Amino acid sequence: MDKVKVGIIGAGNISELHVQGYKKLENVELVAVCDLDKEKAEEYAAKHDIPNIFTDYNKMLKMEDLDAVSVTTWNNSHAPISIAAMKAGKDVLCEKPLAMNADEAQKMVDTSKETNKLLMVGFVRRFEKNANYIKETIENDDLGNVYYAKTGYMRKWGNPGGWFCDKKRSGGGPVIDLGVHVIDLISYLTGKPKAVSVMASTFEHLGLKPYIKGMSKYNAKDYDKDNPFCDVEDSATALIKYDNGMTLSIETSWVLHTKEDNNYLMLYGDKAGVKMEPELEFYKEHNDYFVEERPIVKEEEDKFSAIFQRETAHFIDCIINNTECRNPGEDGVAIMKILDAIYESARSGHEVIL
Ligand SMILES: NC(=O)c1ccc[n+]([C@@H]2O[C@H](COP(=O)([O-])OP(=O)(O)OC[C@H]3O[C@@H](n4cnc5c(N)ncnc54)[C@H](O)[C@@H]3O)[C@@H](O)[C@H]2O)c1
Repeated sequence: MDKVKVGIIGAGNISELHVQGYKKLENVELVAVCDLDKEKAEEYAAKHDIPNIFTDYNKMLKMEDLDAVSVTTWNNSHAPISIAAMKAGKDVLCEKPLAMNADEAQKMVDTSKETNKLLMVGFVRRFEKNANYIKETIENDDLGNVYYAKTGYMRKWGNPGGWFCDKKRSGGGPVIDLGVHVIDLISYLTGKPKAVSVMASTFEHLGLKPYIKGMSKYNAKDYDKDNPFCDVEDSATALIKYDNGMTLSIETSWVLHTKEDNNYLMLYGDKAGVKMEPELEFYKEHNDYFVEERPIVKEEEDKFSAIFQRETAHFIDCIINNTECRNPGEDGVAIMKILDAIYESARSGHEVIL
């Protein structure tokens, strides 16, 4: 295959980063775009010089000159679209979360096996340079046994609105939108241990707060300032235990009465500890002193675009060269099981055993 012919399903915000990534690759041709909104699809096609426009993904998937798709739609359509795409013989890069729940995600993985088509999940943070540095450090056993991890992905005022806060289309709030990234990252960095129990609380007290002044935020394409509908959690906390003895404490929010956004990620081992965010820093012992180390790992200025470039390049490399996929669909299922357990524990008020 000279060039991989790629289609975009869902012409929204994040698809722009997929397209930017594909455009940098000489072995990719963007051949089609599909969005429920015809006008949006047409504008998008004109902007990116994409020749074929659809509003129905089933019609797009009938194209013979289409090898692979990025699925960048609302969460509720990730599974049906990806399954249809693989059945139509296309490889799939599907945005996170892989699906609305673990059952749907498992069906996607089953289809990938039946059709022998690639299902890659968009866990884009695995492509951060810091993450790769820490992964290597852990593989070299420099942290020793990582027994505790702590992460927060906290926004002060960052509910994207629209479909994001409509449970039927999103499956949930910051847990499934932000928590998914950091739960996955910690699992990936620590060698993918299996989660065995989850105790969690979710909170639904603040909603969208569309009237807030003096701040700006990321909005869904269908965000409507005059429609404050929101039936998902605005924050959550969870304690997750793994079969290797590690415990992860996570908190996440879209809206919280707090000073500012706060993103942190720490791993604590019996030889050393590491902070990945807000900056990369190691804590260890040397000559009977505690020491701190700050490795020089320069992320690109526009880190967000750079990690999507590496993600799309990896997807195409897997298709052309049969390279082992860094983000296989199975990993998406494992994380969906944890997310399901977080919501179930919050609902029932009890620990969920996996
Ligand atoms: N990896 C990341 O860091 C990251 C960041 C933001 C969003 N995302 C994920 O990307 C996906 C899209 O998010 P977004 O922020 O781009 O949303 P968005 O609202 O900006 O865009 C979604 C687009 O999908 C279209 N769409 C929905 N259902 C469709 C269907 N069945 N067929 C065709 N088009 C359809 C909508 O019309 C809309 O244009 C979500 O799953 C989200 O979780 C990932």
